[in-house]
Amino acid sequence: MITRSTIQKVNDTADIIDVVGSFVKLKKRGVNYLGNCPFHHEKTPSFTVSPSKGIYKCFGCGKAGNVITFVQEHEKLTYPETIVWLAKRYNIEVEETEVSNEAREKMQLEESLRIVNQYASNYFTQKLFETEEGKLIGMSYFKQRGFREETIKKFQLGYCLEDKLALPSEALSKGYNKEILIKAGLVSERYDQLQSIYSGRVIFPIHNQSGKIIGFGARTLKTSDKTPKYINTPENEIYLKSKTLYGIYFSRNAITKENSCLLVEGYTDVISLHQNGVEHVVASSGTSLTEDQLKLIKRYTKNLVILYDGDAAGIKAALRGLDMAIEQGLNVQVVLLPNNHDPDSYVQEVGAEGFKNYIQENKKDIILFKLEASLKEANNDTIKKTELINDIAETLSKINKLEEFTKQQDYIRRCSQLLQIEEAGLISLVNKKIREKAVKQDRFPREEAEALAKQAEPEVIPDQSEVTSLLQKDYAQEKALIKILLEYGNRPFDEQVSVADYIRVKIADGDFMNTCWQKIYTTYFNHLDETLVYPEEKIFTAHEDNAIRSYSIEALYFPYVVDKWEERHTIPVPDRESLYVEEVEKTVLFFILRKIKTQLTLWLDDIALNEKSDHEEMLEEDRILKLAYTELKKNELELLKQLRTVLIR
Ligand code: CTP
Ligand code: MN
Repeated sequence: MITRSTIQKVNDTADIIDVVGSFVKLKKRGVNYLGNCPFHHEKTPSFTVSPSKGIYKCFGCGKAGNVITFVQEHEKLTYPETIVWLAKRYNIEVEETEVSNEAREKMQLEESLRIVNQYASNYFTQKLFETEEGKLIGMSYFKQRGFREETIKKFQLGYCLEDKLALPSEALSKGYNKEILIKAGLVSERYDQLQSIYSGRVIFPIHNQSGKIIGFGARTLKTSDKTPKYINTPENEIYLKSKTLYGIYFSRNAITKENSCLLVEGYTDVISLHQNGVEHVVASSGTSLTEDQLKLIKRYTKNLVILYDGDAAGIKAALRGLDMAIEQGLNVQVVLLPNNHDPDSYVQEVGAEGFKNYIQENKKDIILFKLEASLKEANNDTIKKTELINDIAETLSKINKLEEFTKQQDYIRRCSQLLQIEEAGLISLVNKKIREKAVKQDRFPREEAEALAKQAEPEVIPDQSEVTSLLQKDYAQEKALIKILLEYGNRPFDEQVSVADYIRVKIADGDFMNTCWQKIYTTYFNHLDETLVYPEEKIFTAHEDNAIRSYSIEALYFPYVVDKWEERHTIPVPDRESLYVEEVEKTVLFFILRKIKTQLTLWLDDIALNEKSDHEEMLEEDRILKLAYTELKKNELELLKQLRTVLIR
């Protein structure tokens, strides 16, 4: 591992204008610099770099970061690789800490596997292009499938000779280690002899997102069903099927540019689409999607389009990952291809334009698609329909981020229409699911919430949409609080205490809902307690922890958050610099207000969870709901009063 002090040195030395400027033409605009974003295509520049803050942000595509993340993304390097890259540029000596033997062995094994895979891949392409057998069998197969030579080269396709002894004997003679060859899934040991596993097959190397070969898929050319169509690399230290998407390396740029990712089943679909000019595509390699695969896609886009040939198995597989995908905040759509077509055959028939048009016209939102399909299946069976409603509410409850609130409401409306049920009923069912989940996570003390509610009187009838909006997790207040802490923490709040002191008195340990904001908050005060110095912004924006880095940049660099409540209650927005004390007070109050709201919501969950067996109890619950709401309003009013005094003063 690279030492902390080296990382620090790199951070202190690397100049963002210098580094970014060597890739992007920058012009000075006031205190910042402006240029064309290197991460997406644009004609008018929206990529800004702030030398004082050491960060960049593109207002076109939203990419933001510091000098390290810039190099990392632009040069497609890992974090340690980036540090080394920058260290070289600034002549900084890289010191490494001692690694444990175990860790070193693991790293060495991984490296050996990568090396042997690269060797094998070269071997397979050489056999494909340069041997009689390769040309006659492998190459003519690819040609017959319509693959052009440049495509074959781009995807580094290959061929493994029929002779089972050919690969092992060459590999051993070149000094490759037997155990590694076996672990890489290239050979097996039989009767004291190493034999090639892929003999007589064409080879599809599998790349990770930075282009390293981590495994292979080997397709048979025989039609008998005695042998499996594909043999794939077994799971090993570098090939983890659940984290791999075939084609991600070749498609990542196109996925970013199209802001969409097509998902297909097979290796050949990816290749054929690329050859025909549709490049934003990856394959799950015949399994249903995993969470890690979804996260990988999410790095590049939030829009996923699943392409399946119309058979039931494919659709089922697509639906299995649905809730997971929604939880990840992905927008998922499905496209069924015309009868008897897979993406490969279809793009060959209609070309790129025709293919893209077909997708555009036929993509269906997967939640509605699922609902329609299940409705057909339920076919007026009441029990099945009840299950279905429950199921769809569960799915919709996974859409649970504030920015997705309208999306959720939209779904609820459309689903209740399809199901022919009351919209309000579906809303409360979805809310119940959200509450159940929140209670499971149990973040707030119950007694406190109960005490708060006890004093309340039933006065107001809650409006359903208000209750719903309470349930949304809103992190805006948490972000605003971190922003003022990082920006003004070291300034005086009054004659006695600093802003940081004031915040700590008011908010104590924070109790943030979002763990990343909490992390920054805790790190801030730990640093202050340990060093007695207020931490600089750089400590966070250049922190080794990814979450701290990106969240602090988000907090510092995003424009000032004007709270929605502020608009609603027509409170004037202060001018920041001159009124920072007021801003601190206001932000702290909003933070506490949000916390009270959340506490009450969660307290309601407990009530909702008290099994209600008959109608009586339902009414009772309803009454308590109103009680809580009243109390909430009171608290809100009280806080708003305080807020007004702060702002009018
Ligand atoms: N697959 C596999 N093992 C098999 C069959 C399929 O691993 N025995 C995986 C492969 O990743 C394959 C994908 O499932 O790419 C889709 O299968 P299929 O459509 O049968 O293969 P294609 O790659 O489309 O090959 P072809 O076009 O030649 O049928
Ligand atoms: Mn296929």
